[in-house]
Order: sequence, then structure tokens, then C-alpha cells
Amino acid sequence: MTTFVKATQAYQQGQRTLPGRYYNAPEIWAEERERIFARRWICVGRSAELAQPGDYAVRTAGGESVIVVRGQDGTVRAFYNVCRHRGTRLCEAERGRLSETIQCPYHAWTYTLDGTLIGAPHMNEVAGFDKRDYPLHQVALAEWEGFLFITLAEEPEPFARAFAPLEGRFSRFNIASLRSAGRIDYDVHANWKLVFQNFSECLHCPIIHPGLAKLTPYTSGENDLFDGPYLGGYMVITAPGGSLTMSGRACAPAVGDLPAEDQHRVYFYTIFPNLLLSLHPDYVMFHTLWPQAPDRTRITCEWLFHPDAFGQPGFDPDDAVRFWDETNRQDWHICEQSHAGIASRAYQPGPYSPREGISAAWDREFLRAIGHAR
Ligand code: FES
Ligand SMILES: [Fe+2]
Repeated sequence: MTTFVKATQAYQQGQRTLPGRYYNAPEIWAEERERIFARRWICVGRSAELAQPGDYAVRTAGGESVIVVRGQDGTVRAFYNVCRHRGTRLCEAERGRLSETIQCPYHAWTYTLDGTLIGAPHMNEVAGFDKRDYPLHQVALAEWEGFLFITLAEEPEPFARAFAPLEGRFSRFNIASLRSAGRIDYDVHANWKLVFQNFSECLHCPIIHPGLAKLTPYTSGENDLFDGPYLGGYMVITAPGGSLTMSGRACAPAVGDLPAEDQHRVYFYTIFPNLLLSLHPDYVMFHTLWPQAPDRTRITCEWLFHPDAFGQPGFDPDDAVRFWDETNRQDWHICEQSHAGIASRAYQPGPYSPREGISAAWDREFLRAIGHAR
């Protein structure tokens, strides 16, 4: 049974924002890479994006380029993008479709989609060479609600254990079977943590998002996850039959068989360390974050709808996409302004208010993850 508490419940008196070095120092950036992005389960997108055998996507996590590819047997696997001959990157494009093999562009070592080396020109002339000794280096992969996750950890925390707090929590939203109607990539000149902190509070909503504030009061809602790697809760959609769209109305049939209370709620969750999940009655939006540098983050935003919605009269995914594209840009801009101010020598950690309890809880989790918790 899920228990919701007031939005201010997560608040602990006295907590301040993080010191400036957490947003700018190269040492912190290096520690984040090792202890968070090379260790945790990272969301790399949707399983449905790799619809056919041979479909692949290349993602960079923890500073490593990883190929995620659907095999001939239908299974999705992940491999380091590193040839076993002389190390060359195997795939250069961000996404595409391979034939039945992955062939290195340098000297044509050839691997099946499950990573087995099957071709290595002239290596039969090398004493003792055995192709079986040179499969691609595999990366652990798991699927949850139609999302794919990888981890570079040598001994990863079992996915089921890491995601136990979320097990079954969103079943009614049918997320695994939803279909994407749009994706927008953003390049944001701000540290990735500012994006999480921003997503975790709506104190800024009346000021930054006048359009959003009209549809859902910033003081509404309660949280059911307010400590640990997964945080969030819901806000109330004021208008009956409403949603967070340009028109203010639902733009598609419900994503699942939702109980009455969910028909006027939008749920926002942060899934440490790179996924933001927003569950509306009529669509699910998710963001994945890709830190590029201490002051740069690539963000992908995607909108998912009930598969039956496509082709139905009145289905207007753009109503949702345009609403959030505008809202996203307002957020990215203020995150960039925030990053710029934090870079000043005058910046000092400031006090969080009870309306920023989830942002503060996110910081605590971040400090635990990087090993700096007091
Ligand atoms: S480096 Fe890949 S075949 Fe030579
Ligand atoms: Fe915002």
C-alpha cells in the first residue's frame, strides 16, 4: 500500500545547497563518473527503440561508449564499443541498423550480435590464436517498464534489488506497452545535478512556468518517495478531464486503466542518477540526462502514449509535446542562469525551504552515492 505524505515531509531543518565545487571542480566530476555513472544502473532509452534484430544505439555512460543492440534471437545486449583487435570504436553513428554482424571499420574483425568473434583476417597465421578468446566485452543490461538500463560495474547490484522500491508501483500506467510520439534533444549549459534539483521542486513554478502553474497549483500534491535513490509524488490537475497540455485538456485516451484519483494527478519521480519520469493521465514523459562536462548536460525528452491512441480521431500528441518543450526550455534556461551564478566566487550554499524538501533529499542521496555523506 502506497502512503502519501505532505510535500514538506521530506524537509529537514538546516540543510543548505551544495558547495560550489560540486558543480565545477574537475575532481568532483571524476568522482561522479567513477562512483555514480560507472557504477549505478543508467537508463539508456526504450527497448522499443530497438524494434528489429540489428537495431542499435550507442550511448556514453561513465565516459565509456557502449553499443546496445538487439540480437537475431530478439534479446537486447550491451557491449563496450571497443574492438578486440586494436581497440577501435566499432560503431560511429548514434543509432542505426546492423546486418547480422558488427564489423570493425579498421581491419574487419567481425562479431555476431551476441558478441562472438567470427571473422579475423590473417589471424589464422598467428600461433595459438583462437577466436573464442576474443568476444566483445559485454556490459550488464536490464529491462524495466520498457526502459533499458546498463551498468559498467564489474559486480553490479542486482537490478531487481536496486529497483525493488519501484517494483509494481507504476503498473497501472502500462508504461512497458506505451509508444513514443516524439523526442527532443537539448544541450543545456548547466551541471546535471541542477536539473535534478530543479525537477524536484515547484517553488519556482509560479515564477518560471506561468502556463504550468495555471493547470496545477504548485502547493498541491503529496509525496510517497522522499528518501533514497527514487523520489517524488504527485501534483493535482485542477480542471476535470484536464492534463498538462497547451489546450489544458487531455490529448489522448488514458495510458492505462486508471483509478479516479489518478485521472486528475500528475506524478513526478526522479530515478537516480539519470532518469526523470512524469506520469500524466493521458501520456508518460521521460527525460534521460547525459552529463558531458561539469557545466554541460545533454537531455533527451520523450513522450509516450497508449498504442491505440495512434490513428484515433482527436489524438494530438503535439498538444503535450509543445507544452513541455516550452516548459523544458524555461527550466533549462533557469538552470543555466543558476549554474552561472554558482560559478561566482561570491556563491555560498544557501538554505533550502520546506517547499524544496525533495531537492534537499536528492542532494543527500547524491552525497551518499559519491561517498561524501557525513
Ligand atoms: S582494430 Fe578492429 S579490426 Fe583492427
Ligand atoms: Fe520547472
